[in-house]
Parts: sequence; structure tokens; C-alpha cells
Amino acid sequence: MKRAVYPGSFDPLTFGHLDIIRRASAVFDELIVSVLNNKEKMPLFSVEERVKILEKATEGLPNVKVDYFSGLLIDYAREKDIHIAVRGLRAITDFEYELQIAQTNRVLSQEQLDTVFFTTSLEYSYLSSSGVRQIASFGGDISMCVPDFVAGLVYDKYGIKRRGG
Ligand code: PNS
Repeated sequence: MKRAVYPGSFDPLTFGHLDIIRRASAVFDELIVSVLNNKEKMPLFSVEERVKILEKATEGLPNVKVDYFSGLLIDYAREKDIHIAVRGLRAITDFEYELQIAQTNRVLSQEQLDTVFFTTSLEYSYLSSSGVRQIASFGGDISMCVPDFVAGLVYDKYGIKRRGG
């Protein structure tokens, strides 16, 4: 059985992430989407909230499981006996950062963890969680960036009443 982990912050989950999740779940027998519990960052959503959001958004994908991790990805992958990490590439700007992480993980794991990249669908290539947070914080429209239920939760975090709702 081919299993893979898709690690990330998912703060918040965007249509770009969902696109990668759908496509990776069609390639692997099981995909574990795992939220990084990064104690150095002050996230918009807690890990528990992000896990719940991901669970709801992936309800229709039976081979997708949602989890979270702290510390190094290679340690988490070893514990779960997973040898493939999935990441999305939007543009050349992502490439340098992702290449460095992928190579570091490969060396650190003694070649036990490889990374498979999916190129983000063009319609989502401009999306980023930080962009979504910024737009929402100023009351802008994020309906084209995140699922509707996520948009509601993001606006709630900023104490913003949704337009037309
Ligand atoms: O969604 P993000 O924030 O771009 O995801 C980054 C992530 C979670 C993939 C990366 O920061 C990560 O794997 N962090 C865990 C710590 C780790 O393993 N670091 C070593 C790689 S340099």
C-alpha cells in the first residue's frame, strides 16, 4: 500500500491545498494530511481547529486521513512508516524553498523520506494562506480562495461580519 503525508500549516486551508489533496489522494492509496503544530508561530486557527476544518473539507475522500505533528517531519514520517511527503508547487518562488526542504529531509532521513511535488492548478496558483488572512483581516472577499464554511470561520476570527450575510 502506497502511503504519503501532506504536511503543512493550513492556516487556513485554501482551494489550492484542497486541489493538491484531491490529486494526491488519487495517486496514493492513503494520504495523511498532517498539520504542523509550530510553537514558534502564532496561528490564526489552533491545531485542533485546523484538523476539524480539514476533516470536514475532506469528508468525501475516504482515503484521506487528517492528523497533526510537532517537531521534525522526518521523525513523524518514521513513526508512521511513511516514505513520501507531498507538497504543492505554485511558482518558481516556491521551488527554491521547497527544494531545500525536500533535500534536507532526504539527507536527514538517510534517504527514507522523499518528496513528490504536484504543480498547483493554474486557477489556484496565486493563492496563499497568508494572502487569505490579510484580505480577510481588511474585510475583503475570500470566497474565491477558501471553501464557504472556512471563509465564515476566518471572518469570525477577525470579528468581521460577512458581506451579504
Ligand atoms: O504550509 P507550510 O507552512 O509551507 O508547511 C511547511 C512545512 C510544515 C512542510 C515545514 O515547515 C515542515 O515540515 N516543518 C516541520 C519541521 C521540519 O521537519 N523541518 C525540517 C525541514 S527544513
